[in-house]
Amino acid sequence: MYCFNEEEYQKRMEWYVNARFGMFLHWGLYAIPARGEWMRSFEKLTDEEYQRYFDEFNPTDYDPKKWAHMAKQAGMKYMVLTAKHHDGFCLFDSQYTDFKSTNTRCGRDLVREYVDAVRGEGLKVGLYYSLLDWHHEDYPHFSDSAHPMYQNPDYPDEGRVWERYLEYMHNQVRELCTNYGKIDILWFDYSFGEYSGEKWGATKLVNMVRTLQPGVIIDNRLEVSGSGLGSLASGNPLPYHGDFVSPEQIIPQEGIRDVNGKPLIWEACFTMNDSWGYRLTDKYFKPASMLIKKLVECVSKGGNMLLNVGPDAKGNFPEESVHILQEIGKWMDKNSESIYGCGMSEMPRPDFGRITQKGNLLYYHIFDNTIGPIPLLGIEKKDVKKIRLISSGAEVPIANNWVSNNYPDITFADLGNNPILPDPVDTVLEVELQHQK
Ligand code: GLC
Repeated sequence: MYCFNEEEYQKRMEWYVNARFGMFLHWGLYAIPARGEWMRSFEKLTDEEYQRYFDEFNPTDYDPKKWAHMAKQAGMKYMVLTAKHHDGFCLFDSQYTDFKSTNTRCGRDLVREYVDAVRGEGLKVGLYYSLLDWHHEDYPHFSDSAHPMYQNPDYPDEGRVWERYLEYMHNQVRELCTNYGKIDILWFDYSFGEYSGEKWGATKLVNMVRTLQPGVIIDNRLEVSGSGLGSLASGNPLPYHGDFVSPEQIIPQEGIRDVNGKPLIWEACFTMNDSWGYRLTDKYFKPASMLIKKLVECVSKGGNMLLNVGPDAKGNFPEESVHILQEIGKWMDKNSESIYGCGMSEMPRPDFGRITQKGNLLYYHIFDNTIGPIPLLGIEKKDVKKIRLISSGAEVPIANNWVSNNYPDITFADLGNNPILPDPVDTVLEVELQHQK
């Protein structure tokens, strides 16, 4: 019988919950066609047709130190790279396949360079590993609707031995957990239909992973996908329960709770533009100002944000991504105290923005200036020890004038008369309470 150890779990999750902000990286052969990481499936390319990208792959500009540096400057605390995506191409030197970066013109173990660089920046190291595999000959072709050869009579499932694929998959995960030092996050992707849990040999897999990497954090996609919560939410965790819920391309409305109403640890992953893998024509980038507010939103609901970048075929980040990361970094430089180690607040959500909280410190994120002073609902004047603008440390007084005094039950902060906020994207007030609320 599996016995969930709450204490061990909380200990394992501590850095991750404090970190709040990470970078997702989708990168592989599909950066060459530049039509997203699902292109082989969408365009129903055979292995032979996809091979041309393998033959060509040579990311001469790949410099993961630069990547890690950009992530760090943006205020991110961890990175997660696609060691293998659904197309089956491995960015690492696996002994179980020829379909790997070391066999391409580039000849490098890209995962090795990545883990070194990420650690070098003092960030936590995450690896994404696709449970699906469109390249492996034992992975069902005909019957998996995502497979490029789905219902193609030339690619029947007969003779494909599932156990052989499982062994391959487990072997590769063992390599990732053995050959690259300490791995902080393993991000499996994804379960669907009957392909879930024990179909992946999940108990055995997770036991192996936890033996090799005792502190590793595992997502919930051995059980579910971007939708679904996983067994931790059911109150009856399975041996391969995910450590966090992984909503995708959405921020949950109220955070995420288990059946008993207890907040769960989650991480919203989403794209910076509209694609995970590099897509030449996708210019739908979310403005930095929006992403800053979304990060605050995640934290205010008790979650992490994993923001994706899809580097191009040469190994460079799209220019737009570079710019956005810099902008986020500028804001984080001044305001990250309101992100790291912070979480949900019990205070009511204000009209003008959101609140994040760390102990007796409440961070009021002002997205829209108010007319008149800033109401701090739920707080009495006598509860307030001090109020500061966190960007400058400047004192912000409690309002005491004829406007605010019309509402004696409300505590207002007085930011002065300028209708333009000190930071028009998100001005953060730190309200220190006498005692934690
Ligand atoms: C989906 C997609 C995949 C992407 C993942 C990120 O599961 O299949 O391409 O890697 O989302 O969460």
